[in-house]
Amino acid sequence: MDARILPPTPEAIAEAADLLRAGQLVGMPTETVYGLAANASDPDAVARIFSAKGRPNDHPVIVHVAAGDDLSRWAAHVPGAARRLMDAFWPGPLTLILPRAPGVPDAVTGGQDTVGLRCPSHPVAQALLAAFGGGVAAPSANRFGRISPTTARHVADEFGAAVPLVLDGGPCEVGIESTIVDVSGELPLLLRPGHISALALSEVLGTAVLTRSQMDDRRAVPRVSGSLSAHYAPRTPLKLVHADRLPGEVAAARAQGRSVGVWSKRDPGGAAVWVEAPADPEGYAHALYATLRELDARGLDVLMLEQPPETLEWSAVRDRLGRAAVGSGPA
Ligand code: TXA
Ligand code: MG
Repeated sequence: MDARILPPTPEAIAEAADLLRAGQLVGMPTETVYGLAANASDPDAVARIFSAKGRPNDHPVIVHVAAGDDLSRWAAHVPGAARRLMDAFWPGPLTLILPRAPGVPDAVTGGQDTVGLRCPSHPVAQALLAAFGGGVAAPSANRFGRISPTTARHVADEFGAAVPLVLDGGPCEVGIESTIVDVSGELPLLLRPGHISALALSEVLGTAVLTRSQMDDRRAVPRVSGSLSAHYAPRTPLKLVHADRLPGEVAAARAQGRSVGVWSKRDPGGAAVWVEAPADPEGYAHALYATLRELDARGLDVLMLEQPPETLEWSAVRDRLGRAAVGSGPA
């Protein structure tokens, strides 16, 4: 059986909120990617997320809150740096890791002493959060390690009847997961790059935001599944290739009788399928997961993606592509 995909009418949103109250899962659009939503206060409902995704139980999930919600239910306190980032970027594609409040289910935090909070800007997510009236746990609505969904159809295809209702909020504008900043310690730490850049965060905070690689390794590393080296992966083997070397690599694969799908700015010639890649990082991120899914569904032998530029604006895209290449099928 298929999941039901409904346009976000007031009736559909009310039904989705009822399903959340009943401990069920709902596909929720956000501006980044679609989430697999459950009542964050109900450990059994959160457990359903983990079994549907096939995700290890000790991975924490983000709690989504409505604009203006009282955060004291979730966070023990909101440090000044967190407050400044919320004022600047909420609602929006930014997740903050904060000290957890007592009573936040271990199923949400993975048993850690912190909790991830995000206030999404997508109007359908906000409408659902308001109708539900509580925190909503929602990881990306894909099976563990696989490509994140950016349309309602992706969610329905991935889960079928395990998710009774998917609200259709259209294709996600940002297209890659939220930036995650840990503000629970002394120094703000960038755990996952995203649309909101380290530079933009630093400007608001007036201090540098460290990345994981710059982090003092005496500090315990929080578990972030998006930080596993293999993630966001298609089943077809995926290679990142420098633009100059694409024509030669495609020709070499063809000489071995292998069919090649290419995503690049210019057609290298010889590919069974070539898709033109956007030249700007925002356009590229927006198209990334849908394009990977399309190419993966073509039954090709190998996918070759043009290596993105090494510049700062491309860091979130480089991060996702690197993991997709590691996690793809054997080359
Ligand atoms: O854009 C997004 O953030 C999407 C949409 C649906 O909101 N959600 C998303 O969730 O990407 P998920 O579960 O696929 O990724 C959330 C990441 C995970 O890697 C998880 O480990 C990390 O956030 N996370 C959640 N709570 C955490 C915590 N307390 N400490 C460290 N990492 C945490
Ligand atoms: Mg995910």
